[in-house]
Amino acid sequence: MRLFLTTLLVLAAAALAVPLALQLEQTDDSQLALIESHHDAPSSGGNDTSKPDVPLDTSAGWVDPRILGGRFLDFVNKTHGEPLNVIISGLSDPFILSEDGLHIYAKSLGYSEECLGLHYGNRHLADLGDGDGRKVEQYLARQYYFPVWGTCWESLAGGQHFRAWKQDGELANTGAWFLGCDSTKHHTIVPNGYDLGRDWLIGRATAGTSYRGLGWKADVELRVGLSTPGNTSVNHGIPTDGIVAILTINRL
Ligand SMILES: *[C@@H]1O[C@H](CO)[C@@H](O)[C@H](O)[C@H]1NC(C)=O
Ligand SMILES: *[C@@H]1O[C@H](CO)[C@@H](O)[C@H](O)[C@H]1NC(C)=O
Ligand SMILES: *[C@@H]1O[C@H](CO)[C@@H](O)[C@H](O)[C@H]1NC(C)=O
Repeated sequence: MRLFLTTLLVLAAAALAVPLALQLEQTDDSQLALIESHHDAPSSGGNDTSKPDVPLDTSAGWVDPRILGGRFLDFVNKTHGEPLNVIISGLSDPFILSEDGLHIYAKSLGYSEECLGLHYGNRHLADLGDGDGRKVEQYLARQYYFPVWGTCWESLAGGQHFRAWKQDGELANTGAWFLGCDSTKHHTIVPNGYDLGRDWLIGRATAGTSYRGLGWKADVELRVGLSTPGNTSVNHGIPTDGIVAILTINRL
């Protein structure tokens, strides 16, 4: 029975894969076009003295994206976005700062990779103020519920997610991950969903996690004044408390 269900799921996913992939391509193209129009905007003049072309000090393990024109909201369109509410500092375990390491760390927290690599929902862009401009998210984790359905089930039922971008442009190459966490129910971000998604991750990270013999524990610093509280330009109009959690994750 279980095997049958799994087979059915794989077949269904295979049937969906082609149209979904096409949709994704289109979405990405339009978003990439958005990057271009941003860079080519004549209004920026080409000589903005407030944005020096020298690398910033990266010794803190992360750099405030706003210094070089970024922001603590990602971009779902030209104006609106979702909060970047967790930073995994570049002073963390170097393994976690790699993409493979982040995948494994996310699993230790209780997230899982998306079912069969399919993305549900649009990819977002973010400008981390590292000289790269707006870039497409690198990773999205979804909470793991069942061995068979895995994250496919979660995508229908809701749960905890994050999107991730790496601050590694040449003007602020800190290696930090910037995460946009959210909490959903029935595929909709719940009221307070951004704050709850952040707090869920913080709770697990600071308690300590392990995966296949590797263990980690995070120190957390909660920062106000980086992100604006409220719902201005926030996707779905969901307000946030404006707190950004800066995690330094150490290997145990
Ligand atoms: C931009 O700045 C450079 C160096 O300061 C200057 O030589 C150039 O004329 C400026 N260009 C414009 C379009 O203002
Ligand atoms: C961007 O998305 C928000 C919803 O999050 C919507 O209210 C707004 O009108 C959109 N803006 C543009 C320019 O499409
Ligand atoms: C933003 O929050 C205010 C209350 O603070 C609310 O009245 C408004 O409807 C919210 N905006 C959206 C787009 O939901």
